[in-house]
This record gives sequence, structure tokens and C-alpha cells, in this order.
Amino acid sequence: MAQTPGTDVAEIAEEIFRLSTFVPDLGPTGFTFNQFLIRAEQPLLFHTGPRAMFPLVSSALAGLIEISDLRWITFGHLESDECGAMNSFLAAAPHAEVAHGAMGCMVSLNDLADRPPRPLADGEVLDLGGRRVRHIDTPHVPHGWDARVLFEETTGTLLCGDLFASMGNGPALSTSDPVAPADEAESMFHATCLTPATAPTIRALAGLNPVTLAVMHGSSFTGDCAGALQALADCYAARHSDAVVG
Ligand SMILES: [Fe+2]
Ligand SMILES: [Fe+2]
Repeated sequence: MAQTPGTDVAEIAEEIFRLSTFVPDLGPTGFTFNQFLIRAEQPLLFHTGPRAMFPLVSSALAGLIEISDLRWITFGHLESDECGAMNSFLAAAPHAEVAHGAMGCMVSLNDLADRPPRPLADGEVLDLGGRRVRHIDTPHVPHGWDARVLFEETTGTLLCGDLFASMGNGPALSTSDPVAPADEAESMFHATCLTPATAPTIRALAGLNPVTLAVMHGSSFTGDCAGALQALADCYAARHSDAVVG
């Protein structure tokens, strides 16, 4: 994969930073791979990037915190872009723990992670000291049995992973409609599991009333996040019903 020389850093909510690496030759208009740092007494990273991106991501992170101070390594689900560099970060940060849903720990991480992971129950909160993240199980949404999101309660930031994934290299934080570009990317990639639970799971996230959506691929969004989640759920409800009817 060709990469631009660096990883861009932007603060998308107070003390929440987006690290973004654009890969121009992926798809028609390129694709971003984003990680998020919550800078608190116990710094938390959401997504590690793939192993090959560790030099880029870790050097961008080192501009924000001492890597050795990293306390929590988290991600949406088991895939290389979400967690490929997990063990590289465990090696670089001796006090860091991987924190993931109990199911994902049992199925994969107890074996894959170089140190034992910290399993989280649905709804469990990690108090980072200045920021609080709630773990929410979203099995198979957008994909993966172990899938989950994190909700940072102090700033109202939903770390929603691959939800709202879109092509191109837009601004770090946008107020433009995130639903149409996400629906277009879904038509291209077909990355999301279409099950009867897909739309209801996304609608439940709207109930959190987020202020900001931290998006793994594409621009993060601030604005009517609950409305955007409902509209995204409508798209998946329509796709599911088309699939069932045939
Ligand atoms: Fe994914
Ligand atoms: Fe992803």
C-alpha cells in the first residue's frame, strides 16, 4: 500500500485526538485509517492501525503522550486495521492493557495478545481520570462477533469504529451529512453484516445522544449525531429487507 509520508493529528473533542493516515491508492478516491487517543490520566488508544503502520502511528502518538504512559489499548473488533499493531504497542508501553469485550477476549485475545487482556462487561465503564469510557457490545455491527463501540461520557464522543466509514480524505471533523457517503461506501465494500439486529443496534446508539462521532475511516462528525445514527439505521433496515425479499 502506498502511503502519504505522515499521519495527521487533530483534536476532534476536548483531549480526544484523531490520528489519520491516508492511503491514496485504496479504492477510487483513497481511504483513511484513523486512531483516536483519549488523553487523560490513563491515556487510551482506540484502534492501533495495522502492524505496518506502527512506525507512523506511534510517532504521531509520541507527539501527544509518552508512548510508555499509554494505559489502555482498545479497538472496535478483531481486524488488522483495528488491532494489527496491538502487540507492538504492548511492547512499547509496559503498563498498557488491552481492554475488549468479554466475548472477544475469550474467543481471540486471550490467545492473540502478548499480555492477558482485560475483559469488559457490556455497559462497563473505565474511569480514565478526567474522561470515562463506556464499553458497549454491538455483536456483528458493523462486523465481527466481538464488535463493540466505546462512548466517552464526558465529551459525548461515540468511538463508532467502522460505522459511517467513507472514502476519500475529508477534514478531520465535519458538520456535513455523514450518511450518504457512508451508504455509498457500503455499496462499494459490503462490509457490514446484514442481520435483523443491525438497524436496532445502531438505533440503540442514537439513544446515547452523542455530540461527536469519531469515525475510523473518513471524517469525524459533529452535529445531530442521533439523527445521523437513525438515518444510517434506516439505510441498513432497507438493505436487510431487500436482502430478505431478494
Ligand atoms: Fe472492520
Ligand atoms: Fe476499520
